Order: sequence, then C-alpha cells, then structure tokens
Amino acid sequence: MKFFVDTADVTEIRELNDIGLIDGVTTNPSLILKSGGDIMEVTKEICSIVDGPVSAEVVATDYDGMMKEAAVLARIAGNICIKLPLTMDGLKACKALTSQGHKTNVTLCFSANQALLAAKAGATFISPFVGRLDDIGLDGMEVIGEIRAIYDNYGFETEILAASIRTVNHVKMAAMIGADVATVPPATLKALVKHPLTDKGLEAFLADWAKTGQKIG
Ligand code: E4P
Repeated sequence: MKFFVDTADVTEIRELNDIGLIDGVTTNPSLILKSGGDIMEVTKEICSIVDGPVSAEVVATDYDGMMKEAAVLARIAGNICIKLPLTMDGLKACKALTSQGHKTNVTLCFSANQALLAAKAGATFISPFVGRLDDIGLDGMEVIGEIRAIYDNYGFETEILAASIRTVNHVKMAAMIGADVATVPPATLKALVKHPLTDKGLEAFLADWAKTGQKIG
C-alpha cells in the first residue's frame, strides 16, 4: 500500500519524505489556504521534494475552465497529478487530460457508482472520502470495499486512494480492504508508529542495559 501525505505543509512533507514514508502528496484548496502560501509556489516546492505524484486541484467548475487551469498546474512539474471534482464536467476533463497523458485524481467521491464513472473516465486515482462519510453516519470503509469489488470485477486500473482519513484505524481498514493508496494527514501518519508496549519495552531494555555498565563501541 502506498502512503500519500494529505497536506501542503512543506516542513512536514520534507520530514516524512526524509524518513522514506511517503509515495506522494495530496493538496486541496483548504490545505493551500492552511499553508498560507501561493498555490503555484507551494506546489512547486512540494514537487521538488517528492518524486511521486503531487495532486493539485482545479477550482473552475466548467470543463473549459478546468482544462485551462489544468494546463497551468501541469506546467509546474512532471509529477503533478491534476485533481478534479466528481462532476460531469470533472469527468469530461478527466477523460481529456488522461488521453493527453496527464495523471488525474478524481476527488469528492462519496459512492461506488461515482467511482465507477471515474474509472470509466480513465482516472489514475479515485478519492473516496472516508471520514466525511463517517461524519454523517454512513460507513466510509464500506464504500472503499464496494469500489474494490467493482474495480476487481472489471479489471479497472484506476487506483483507490482512500482519502479524508482521520484515524490510525482508518489506515488499517483501508489496507485490509485493499485500497491502493491512503492519503493521510501528517499527525495520523506519525501516530502509526506508536504503541504503549513499544515504549514500555524500550524503557525496560534501557534500564537493564544501564545495569550492565556496558557500552557499544
Ligand atoms: C484528499 O485528497 C482530500 O482532499 C482530503 O483527504 C480531505 O480530507 P478532510 O475530509 O479531512 O478534509
């Protein structure tokens, strides 16, 4: 399973990339706002840090506008992935951009049928929003499972990018169901390493080691 980091914070991206934990980055207009930076400059910097796909989202809602913005975003770097909303115009732009050889990420997906349409439009990634489905009392992971089954039934190559991940359990469930990628906020990604028994065990080993009076090297 690949990990993308869901942020436009370059300090966090650099840190996680240096550890070797991330295979790509996803941004959206809200994350660009949070970064406080200019979309072109921030995205360019992110693309210089990470080798894998960096999703940058269009904000136009009509096909022509999306295509114009996609051309501007695609010029930032070779690893830009154009993020498009799951609307008819977004799907049309997805089809056109995929045919031109661009990577595409169809976002704001909340149902298996929407994901089926994105796959038919040739999306590189489909982003079902797990957390936002859970927020309204639905089951985000159930949708991930439905999409996995449908894509496997027909051999669609679109990768399932579990998005709106809020908890470490979301990451585990997405991996168990077979999502190809999870895009995870930095804090949740870092929380994956934590276990109280690891801390307790390390503390005990260090205490015993101190008693030996030895040094390594
Ligand atoms: C990623 O592509 C999405 O924009 C993101 O995961 C949304 O997460 P949120 O629901 O926590 O805003």
